[in-house]
Parts: sequence; structure tokens; C-alpha cells
Amino acid sequence: MKDGVTFVILGATGDLTKRKLIPAIYHLVKNGKIGKFAIVGAARSNIQIKKILSESEKFIKNLDKKAWKKVIYFSYYHRVDFYQQEDYRQLKKFVEEIEKKHKLSGNRLFYLATMPQHFEIMTFNLAKIGLVKTKGWARCAYEKPFGEDLKSAKKINKSILKIFNESQIYRIDHYLGKELVGNISLVRFTNRILEPLWKNKHIESVQIILDEDMGVGNRGPYYDKYGAIKDVVQNHMMQLLALTAMEAPKKLVGEYIRNEKAKLLSKVKIKDLILGQYEDYKKEKGVSKKSKTETFAALKLEINNQRWKGVPFFLKTGKNLDKKQTLIIIKFKKVDCLLAKTCEFDSNYIIIRIQPDEGISFEINQKIPEKNEVIPIKVDFCHSCLFGPNTPRGYENLLEDIMKGDQSIFVRKDEIENSWRIIDEIKKRKVYSYKKGSKGPEQLNIFNKKHNIIWKQ
Ligand code: BG6
Repeated sequence: MKDGVTFVILGATGDLTKRKLIPAIYHLVKNGKIGKFAIVGAARSNIQIKKILSESEKFIKNLDKKAWKKVIYFSYYHRVDFYQQEDYRQLKKFVEEIEKKHKLSGNRLFYLATMPQHFEIMTFNLAKIGLVKTKGWARCAYEKPFGEDLKSAKKINKSILKIFNESQIYRIDHYLGKELVGNISLVRFTNRILEPLWKNKHIESVQIILDEDMGVGNRGPYYDKYGAIKDVVQNHMMQLLALTAMEAPKKLVGEYIRNEKAKLLSKVKIKDLILGQYEDYKKEKGVSKKSKTETFAALKLEINNQRWKGVPFFLKTGKNLDKKQTLIIIKFKKVDCLLAKTCEFDSNYIIIRIQPDEGISFEINQKIPEKNEVIPIKVDFCHSCLFGPNTPRGYENLLEDIMKGDQSIFVRKDEIENSWRIIDEIKKRKVYSYKKGSKGPEQLNIFNKKHNIIWKQ
């Protein structure tokens, strides 16, 4: 991005800015992916940019001093009460002075790193005082969650589309910035050996797992309002589902992929689910003592189209489980038994490991030497062995693509609304307790038996 950019981060004192956005900009600088730039952080607190940067520094490994110095030199902070237009006027002046000082082109990337209830007023105020009118481009990124249900998501979309065109709007789902997520459609649609098998005739079921081994940390107030379903199922897991199950796009590029994902999401229905909450969740800071918010969910979904009729999709996620892993597991139907004696062999599996230990494995059956019996063996592709360690590049990819104006890995209006429609249908449920570090509530066994599911990992 040689002609430069001003990052205007609204909500700059939050966790996201410190943990992800500043480190991502630092990496872009270090890797020579930005030319001229400036960062203008804005939020309500009266603090110094130094404080934000020094907290950010902790999230950068093997800090390159030269690149970091550059980030420090071009970073600024301005106090803004997001509900006061006068503050935005001052912000505009501030941004213009900085752009002048550093001879920047006027390209502006607004990043709304705040809760969704502020999106409308912020966008309105940015436009009202003319900050989005610039001699360069103006693009606006909206951090997830985008709304809290279908109604609020539609309302936000309606308001922001009065100000920006869809081509200027970047709805963030950081999973789409992950290397192995970008790989799903490529694996599906560049391999003749997979393409004809990817349907109900051959696939028995699909599992999508997003397990976490940490609790809610210092995000209690946010999490307690949302819960696991709105925090990760509505967005990250629905995107994984859409990429796994969509029809072949005309071309493997942006709009065509987004068309197919949106179509797929319009066909998804939740058939059953079970919810859980880890023990002592109610003691977390900022969480209601009577909270019924789920920190665990397992769901059975169906996709109502010809390709997937009769194939259950199982989703499972939770905080404070026994491990951190994100996996997609495709279980194939068993072949007819042609062996003379027993036929105790397993199905074939394809396992896409999004994280950690990125890669793909195939499980296929083969003969045990000197016996006429079969065992499953793993044919494993280890991403880091071949391409080196996959640094946490999610936000770096996202910011780079916004600067390029490439919307492929951002969520379009219809995708967001379709995935909220799926979630909106969930009625209130009992929430079962589970032990920290476990596999979820004991009642999960009943759900598993009922749906004949064995979680693969
Ligand atoms: C975020 C959720 O979107 O994704 C968090 O708000 C969750 O609760 C996180 O922990 C998981 O992301 P990752 O990249 O660590 O798998």
C-alpha cells in the first residue's frame, strides 16, 4: 500500500486495539506492507498514546526495534466522546493536521473497535462532520459482533448504508483472516479426488469444533450479554460451515464466494442443541450472579438443499474446556463390506485443523501386515512443517485487504443477516453446569447418544 493510509481507530483503549490491531499494524510495517501511515486512536478516556502502545508491546513477539519505533513515531491519540459531535469536529481537525504533517494521501481506514450499539451513531457522526469525505478513499471496518440479533443487525445495516456504499463497508470476522480458513475452499475446489465426494451420497456427517481452554477473562460484561452462541457460533462457526458446505462458486474469488456463502446460510436450520455454563462463571468479574448465559453449546444443524439433505452438521464450542482447538471433521459413509470375516473398519475422515497445529489429515483404512484385518492410518499434512510457523496473522491479513479494497474475507450484508436469522430461532433453554477443564456438561452424553455422535477429538 504505497500511497499511505491513516488508521482512525475508534475504541482505541479497548483490548482489541492493544492485542490485535496495533500488533497487526506493526507487522505490516515490519514486513514492508505499508508505505506512509499514521495511527489515530480515539476513545473516551483521557490517556496518552504511549500507554496504549506500551500495553500493546507485550503482545508482540521478537520485537523489531526499528519497526516498533516507526509505529511509535506515527501514532497519536485524541479524546472523543462518541456521542458529542463537537468532539468529532476536533478529531477531524486533528486527523487533517497529522495527514498534513506526514504528507499523507488522505486514505482513511476507520476501525470501529467498539460494541455494536455504538456503530450507528459513530458512523453518523463521522459523516456529519465530514471526516469520511476525503481526497483519498474512506473505508470503514466494523468489529464483530455485528448486532445482537437479526433486528439490530438489519437496523445497523440500514443506517450505515445511508453513509457508505457496501464496497466501503468491511464487517470483520477474524476467522476469515486465518490461513487455514482461507484454505478450505481451495482444498475443496482444486482437488478432483474430493469434489465428487463432497455430498450426502458419500458424507455421513460433519463436525465443526471451536473449543477453548480459557474462561471469559476480563470480558465478563460483554460476554454475559452475548454468550457462546452469539459470540462465536453466529459468526466464526457459521462462516466455517458456509465455506465447508457452499456450492462451487463460479470463480474462487470474492463476490462469487460471498454469493454462495449467503445462499448456503439461507438454508440452514438448527434442529437441536444443548447449552452449558462452566462452574464459577457467575463469580467472574462483570458477570451477573444469577447469569444464565451459556459458555458452552453443542448443536445439530441441517442444510435444506439437495447436496446436504440427510447429513447432520454438528457444532460444538465452549470456554474453559480441556483444550484449545478449531477443527472441521468430515466423516464419510462406510463402504459396503466385502471382507470375508468381520468388517470392523472405521469410516474415512478428512480433518481440517484450523488451529493449533494447522494442517489437514485423511484417515484411510489399510491392511495390518500379515493379517487380513484393517486399521485406519493417518495421512497427514502439517502446515508449519512445509510453510513454516503460521504466525497469528489474522488481523494483519484483514487490514491488508481493507487497504487493497479487497472484500473477499469480509462478511456481506446478506451473510450477516442470514446467520442472525438462524440464531434468532433458538428458544430459551436449560443451561447445564460443567467442570473447568472438562469436555462440557455431562448431559452432552445424552445429546450425543440421541444423535449418534462421537466427537472426533
Ligand atoms: C472472538 C470471541 O471473536 O474469538 C472470543 O469474542 C474467542 O470469545 C475468540 O475467544 C476466539 O478466537 P481465536 O482466534 O483465539 O480462536
